[in-house]
Amino acid sequence: MKKKLIVFFSVFVFVISFAVSQKFKDLALTPPMGWNSWNCFGPDINEKKVMEIADYMVKTGMRDAGYIYLVIDDGWQAGRDENGNIIVNKKKFPHGIKKLADYVHSKGLKFGIYSDAGRKTCQGLPGSRGYEFQDARTYAKWGVDYLKYDWCYHGKQNSEASYKLMRDALYKAGRPIVFSICEWGTTKPWKWAKDIGHLWRTTEDILDCWDCVNEWGGMGWTLILDKQVGLEIYSGPGHWNDPDMLEVGNGGMTINEYKAHFSMWCMLSAPLMAGNDIRKMTPEIKNILLNKEAIALDQDPLGKQAVKITDTGDYEIWVKELSNNELAVALLNRGESPITTKINWNWVLKKFHRKGNLYKLRDIWKHKFVGSTKEIFKKKVSPHDVIVLRLVR
Ligand code: GLA
Repeated sequence: MKKKLIVFFSVFVFVISFAVSQKFKDLALTPPMGWNSWNCFGPDINEKKVMEIADYMVKTGMRDAGYIYLVIDDGWQAGRDENGNIIVNKKKFPHGIKKLADYVHSKGLKFGIYSDAGRKTCQGLPGSRGYEFQDARTYAKWGVDYLKYDWCYHGKQNSEASYKLMRDALYKAGRPIVFSICEWGTTKPWKWAKDIGHLWRTTEDILDCWDCVNEWGGMGWTLILDKQVGLEIYSGPGHWNDPDMLEVGNGGMTINEYKAHFSMWCMLSAPLMAGNDIRKMTPEIKNILLNKEAIALDQDPLGKQAVKITDTGDYEIWVKELSNNELAVALLNRGESPITTKINWNWVLKKFHRKGNLYKLRDIWKHKFVGSTKEIFKKKVSPHDVIVLRLVR
């Protein structure tokens, strides 16, 4: 009898703990899209800017193209009150976060915020360590839909346990929130985070350059791209590799370089979080961020990250499997001189078990069909540029 009771009790505890320790399902079934304040404003954010960005997300067509989450990064916090509640910086956000979230929601957007699993954020402001459940309740009350959770000042904390704790806190607070793990890939979150977060950063911070490296951390997007090779098996609907937010439009690269950056993020099924000041977008930048054919590759419901099938140093070919048995192929020139590509499609189709299928080639930047898989594809790719083809049945 006693034994039976113990078994019953253990099963009961197991079922209960499972019911409270899970992430919100059915969120981020395609890579999240939106805007985040960090890459263009750093900690210099305030209510007025965020409201204007919300207005421009509608005005520019960003919202209707799928950029739904407006996320405030580090710099909104001021301290904690005597009860441990997080206090917002009133100089920057005089009407508080709830009011701002309401405004963002009134524009048909979703609202996101930032915190840190350690004692402090990377800007030295209060982190959520020790306040996880309290903060999660506050976010739910404010109407938060997305939480980016950083990894500064974590001391000896275990990463998996720390992120699990906030996942459970969010779940308990009851408001569905996309949970964005920002641990920079240090403890290989792709191996442990599938049931914890909806996306996880795979590297240090992106910089607004082609291939620069910063002494104190951070690198250009092509170097981040290199680090995504091999991670494709970990990414899929509801759990994405995150190579960091977009730098498109921040001024450090040429239009072709931004086009290549955006194309490759779409090939990777990367979360598309714009990081530019969209109040001042040029038509060229708008053309990139709002290219519906590129976005469609990123948002393809199959959710497969592209794999690299050729790398000759300067010239790379990446292939992304799409739903409906289609494929996307990116021809990337990382070098300083033009490269003439010559693709025999039989080889590519065989590799992806689509031999015998006939496809039309859709150039997603020219917005026109440029041939079929019957013929060899011969084209010049400019330096620091890309051609992206969708193989359409
Ligand atoms: C870290 C993150 C960045 C940004 C800053 C904010 O560096 O990786 O994306 O959130 O902190 O301080």
